Amino acid sequence: MIVVTGATGNVGRLLVESLAAAGEEVTAVSRRISAADVPDGVRTVRADLAETGGLKRVFDGADRVFLLTSGEFMAAGGDVAEVVAAAGEAGVGRIVLLSSQGVGTGRHAPAFEEAVKASGLEWTVLRPGGFASNAFQWAPAIRADRVVAAPFGDVALPVIDPADIAGVAAAVLRESGHHGRTYVLTGPEPISPRRQVADLADALGEPLRFAELSEDEARAAMSEFMPPVVVEATLSILGRPTEDELRVSPDVEKVLGRPGRTFADWAARNAAAFK
Ligand SMILES: NC(=O)c1ccc[n+]([C@@H]2O[C@H](COP(=O)([O-])OP(=O)(O)OC[C@H]3O[C@@H](n4cnc5c(N)ncnc54)[C@H](OP(=O)(O)O)[C@@H]3O)[C@@H](O)[C@H]2O)c1
Repeated sequence: MIVVTGATGNVGRLLVESLAAAGEEVTAVSRRISAADVPDGVRTVRADLAETGGLKRVFDGADRVFLLTSGEFMAAGGDVAEVVAAAGEAGVGRIVLLSSQGVGTGRHAPAFEEAVKASGLEWTVLRPGGFASNAFQWAPAIRADRVVAAPFGDVALPVIDPADIAGVAAAVLRESGHHGRTYVLTGPEPISPRRQVADLADALGEPLRFAELSEDEARAAMSEFMPPVVVEATLSILGRPTEDELRVSPDVEKVLGRPGRTFADWAARNAAAFK
């Protein structure tokens, strides 16, 4: 049985669907999940991963785990080593960690990856760059005013479709040969915010306006809902990416046997959220 944590999120929801469609027995976990969030036949467990007392119940009967640790988990004092230890005690043999490209580029601490690597379990680390689904943050302004306000309009990064992260995760959970590997996951091409908005306009079939924010304007807007350290890290990636962050990684194609999906493809599949 495979436990998928973060099962209602951008990645986890698609991963649960694809594992269930492949005939795997799946348990989907999040704090607020209910049966309506998952396909028929998928078991759901409501649990807060930051509360160690409830972890035994999360991993009971599992042999493989997809592990996602959110910002809220960290803010609540969650300890990934305890989560991993609970998985090991329950008999889990393989763990796939959703990490971040930022660990490889020195922007994020490696503690989560280290906990998984030290666990003695079979492990694979997925290090995605920025998600295409970050564009959902533009949905309210697009719906209301047909406008997107964002900084660094012409800095192009190879954003990744969460469906490809889920695809790689499903392959790594189901196939052998991925133990001890770290995969950097990007989209097939760098794409700027301005072009993402043009792709969204095509998907919607109507024009959208791009209003470029200065870095200070963006800092003020982001500071309303993000801690300062996250604001600065995000502005730095978006405005001053490193060579590694600009590069298209071959790893999605290596694992899936096809290139990653484009942002235009993501926009076409998710247009309803912007209408
Ligand atoms: N967005 C990016 O550009 C980017 C780039 C690189 C890496 N990442 C990494 O990707 C991950 C986010 O993935 P995503 O977009 O799929 O997530 P998401 O859509 O933000 O969803 C988070 C999921 O985790 C669950 N969750 C949150 N806190 C929890 C807790 N304490 N205990 C149990 N479940 C909890 C949420 O459900 P409930 O609310 O029901 O609990 C939800 O299912 C993060 O680890 C982030 O660091 C993101």
